[in-house]
Amino acid sequence: MRLEVYKNYDEVSLRAANIIASQVIVNPKSVLGLATGSSPIGTYNILVQRCQAGQLDFSQVRSVNLDEYKGLGIESDQSYVWFMHHHLFDKINIKAENIHLPNGKAQDFHEEAKNYDALIDSLGGTDIQLLGIGHNGHIGFNEPSEEFIAPTHVVDLQESTIEANKRFFTSIDEVPKQAITMGMHGIMTSKKILLIATGKAKADAVRKTLNGSVTPKVPASILQLHRDVTILVDQELADNL
Ligand code: F6R
Repeated sequence: MRLEVYKNYDEVSLRAANIIASQVIVNPKSVLGLATGSSPIGTYNILVQRCQAGQLDFSQVRSVNLDEYKGLGIESDQSYVWFMHHHLFDKINIKAENIHLPNGKAQDFHEEAKNYDALIDSLGGTDIQLLGIGHNGHIGFNEPSEEFIAPTHVVDLQESTIEANKRFFTSIDEVPKQAITMGMHGIMTSKKILLIATGKAKADAVRKTLNGSVTPKVPASILQLHRDVTILVDQELADNL
């Protein structure tokens, strides 16, 4: 795993955007694995600017997102599908039919999960997977547990995740208690993984990811088994490693 340290969030975002932009330039049909949350917003802003300036073309790009809250759809501005449209998809020239997220309003989540993995495999996996990391070491919504879960699956969110994500909702009671997430198969079959983490509160999770044992109790530690992982952090996080 490669650790790169940048001065602040903006510089981390610039580096992440440069890596993703290069991927799209080298292969205009790239399959991008995308994340939501605060970490990638700066990256998405830069990609939007470049696309609008005519420097980047997403017309053939396919995207696959990590996760969605169970029960939320695009009509809810807390859903991840809404987030992706608001921060990225509606501002770039990606085609609607090339955008994929797990459906938080599926009738049958078992079927939805199975189909999502089949879709990822049919695309040949992602070329690059962008990740944030939870304070508890989660990636996607793969929460700490007794075993790594390979397929896309429904997960009960931990209290710490609900607490961390309540900032996007008017009250903690509104935060969904479950989500559907890509599992470790979808993440680990990506050709390249790019993890963004900033701020000292994430230092413990990043330290365990880099140097701890590989254990499902720290889901991101599985990244030690992948051959092309880059972790981008800011100086504040690095100072607390
Ligand atoms: C989001 C996701 C999560 C977040 C993580 C960090 O799609 O899968 O794993 O990346 O919770 O969230 P932020 O960036 O908001 O700190």
